[in-house]
Amino acid sequence: MGVTTFVEPSGTAAALLLLGRGSDAASERGVDCPGDLPAPSDPNLVERARAAKAKLGERVFVLGHHYQRDEVIQFADVTGDSFKLARDAAARPDAEFIVFCGVHFMAESADILTTDAQRVILPDLAAGCSMADMAGIAQVESAWDTLEEIGAAGSTVPVTYMNSTAAIKGFVGRHDGVVCTSSNAKRALDWAFERGQRVLFLPDQHLGRNTAVLELGLTADECVLYDPHKPGGGLTAQQLGEAKMILWRGHCSVHGRFTKSCVDEVRMRVPGVNVLVHPECRYDVVTAADYVGSTEYIIRTIEAAPAGSSWAVGTELNLVRRLANAHPDKEITFLDRTVCYCSTMNRIDLPHLVWSLEELVAGRVVNQITVDPDTARYARAALDRMLALPAR
Ligand code: 13P
Ligand code: SF4
Repeated sequence: MGVTTFVEPSGTAAALLLLGRGSDAASERGVDCPGDLPAPSDPNLVERARAAKAKLGERVFVLGHHYQRDEVIQFADVTGDSFKLARDAAARPDAEFIVFCGVHFMAESADILTTDAQRVILPDLAAGCSMADMAGIAQVESAWDTLEEIGAAGSTVPVTYMNSTAAIKGFVGRHDGVVCTSSNAKRALDWAFERGQRVLFLPDQHLGRNTAVLELGLTADECVLYDPHKPGGGLTAQQLGEAKMILWRGHCSVHGRFTKSCVDEVRMRVPGVNVLVHPECRYDVVTAADYVGSTEYIIRTIEAAPAGSSWAVGTELNLVRRLANAHPDKEITFLDRTVCYCSTMNRIDLPHLVWSLEELVAGRVVNQITVDPDTARYARAALDRMLALPAR
């Protein structure tokens, strides 16, 4: 895959000037933006990445999440959403090094799912996830204590979104729960409700609510919001005991910024536009959209769309820009003018990738991600339950 630069589809009302050439009178920046992104500071980086990868050969397996930059994704052996990448990592026991171009929780999951002999590397340790940070293990243990005190823990099944720390996955595994991703959240909730009366859903309230209400048919009243910064989550024992879904108060800093007015505005601007969003978006955004699904679903939907159709996509900007470049026969625009890249995903850039590969060539393993064996054992149980969920 070559490096591409997003150029606005010309002469379309829907097109937004985000990066690259073009003009946008509505932008604070004013009109004509003259050019493309500047070249990476070292023009030899692409060549160096290629050379290091070639030297490592089959010893290295590079995974790239769809939200990664083009300059990085071109070196990925496989690309995918978090579910696909977890499976891909588990399917390559022969690779000595897994270089994970994604964020910290994904690299942890890869470490849990790969053999002890394999080493997982995150090219920049600052590539975390603000959503995962919203559920600390001490906070979750304290929430569970509250459920135990009111006699509700035994009938509660914890379900955590993949976007959580290994410690949270370990907690869920220890309490007979399951991990889910945005591709299989409904199946995970079906599984959980076969085993308990209620679900503690961590850490993304939006994925939890959207799946429970829109796919399982629960009412909004059957879902309560647990605020880890308030005693007892800010809920009474009765509210907790009567709830079907206890939603952790966490969200994605990127998807949580799309609003219903973005959807209304794009519909006014582009008659007939199809609005396609990720389920990490808020409930009112998802209900105002035409289609909702994981990043893999978003890609498949755009690929299958007829030429000439118009799409406003509410997910991370690197992916939307890549889709726009790959499908010039369709009009693809970003759902909002002000939502930015995922800043932590973008921490992985070409200099960090080159550095980690060249260090491996030199026999040094940098930025290795390891999960302690006890946490890994329980987290693996929760991940294995997810991998064993029936196919849709
Ligand atoms: P998926 O990869 O499961 O679609 O999740 C999106 C995301 O936010 C990853 O960080
Ligand atoms: Fe976390 Fe959202 Fe970034 Fe994904 S897109 S890594 S959920 S902040």
